[in-house]
Amino acid sequence: MNPIIEKQDLSENVVRMVLAAPDIARKRRAGQFVILKMDEKGERIPLTIVDSDEKVGTITIIFQVVGKSTAALACLKAGDALMDLQGPLGNPTEIENFGHVVCIGGGVGVGVVYPLAAALKKAGNNVTSIIGSRTKSLLILEEEMKKVSDRLIVATDDGSYGFHGFVSAVLQNLIDAKEKIDRVYAIGPVPMMRVLCNVTKPHGIPTVVSLNSIMVDATGMCGACRVSVGGKTKFTCVDGPEFDGHQVDFELLANRLRMYASQEKQSMEAYRCQCHGK
Ligand SMILES: Cc1cc2nc3c(=O)[nH]c(=O)nc-3n(C[C@H](O)[C@H](O)[C@H](O)COP(=O)(O)OP(=O)(O)OC[C@H]3O[C@@H](n4cnc5c(N)ncnc54)[C@H](O)[C@@H]3O)c2cc1C
Ligand code: FES
Repeated sequence: MNPIIEKQDLSENVVRMVLAAPDIARKRRAGQFVILKMDEKGERIPLTIVDSDEKVGTITIIFQVVGKSTAALACLKAGDALMDLQGPLGNPTEIENFGHVVCIGGGVGVGVVYPLAAALKKAGNNVTSIIGSRTKSLLILEEEMKKVSDRLIVATDDGSYGFHGFVSAVLQNLIDAKEKIDRVYAIGPVPMMRVLCNVTKPHGIPTVVSLNSIMVDATGMCGACRVSVGGKTKFTCVDGPEFDGHQVDFELLANRLRMYASQEKQSMEAYRCQCHGK
């Protein structure tokens, strides 16, 4: 069992949890994830390890409520416990001093890009971070991102805070201003990552994306998480989750993410959220 040490609502539908997991906290590196199972009948959910504290033996996760399992997880509180937590899984991010790196996170993807930005900064990179959300109230981790970045640019789709527009427009502006960019990390919804890759590709800027394909076993056995990268089949759980964004078939990824949409809808409709008594 893995007790929940802290729980905090970061924005509407986005929750931060600190979990007791001493072994994972000791081993994990930036870019890796866990698979958690809430209870006996629970689905296995992959979530990125956003942070860890080796001394107290905890890891931090940040998740968005998008369906039944994440809704049920959001109903748990500090003092409750998860039945099972497996990890750290996936390959750690390749961390080197590349020079000027731009770390871009959209929506809950800011939680995923945060450990990368922190590790890249620690390795001596000049880190520009661009974080975005639909509107100001949905923006997460602004202060945390500021601490691990040399420069932070915030964008909101509706212009309620920071730059008015998409994170891709901010990146385009930096490129148009002839800034030398050695590497881009783009993490967020599939359409956002696809657009960012289209922005960097003509300029030959290496672009790393972290893919969120549907996972089941997370051991490379079931094939659920397969993606196409450079025309070759890869398994996100063991070959990723990070890939060269210019090689990813985003169309296939988007289609595979929608594969169980009707079952997910039914499952959410049948679910009665206990913490809200609905
Ligand atoms: C390596 C990795 C890291 C991730 N990190 C984060 C994170 O840090 N924060 C976060 O909010 N989300 C993260 N996700 C996505 C998260 O796992 C899904 O949102 C979650 O499993 C949805 O479960 P659900 O039952 O609530 O939703 P459902 O109603 O089951 O599904 C809603 C949508 O979530 C996706 N999804 C469903 N089941 C899975 C699954 N088993 N694996 C992956 N995606 C699924 C599908 O696109 C689906 O259409 C990550 C995914 C991967 C693969
Ligand atoms: S989740 Fe089964 S192969 Fe990756």
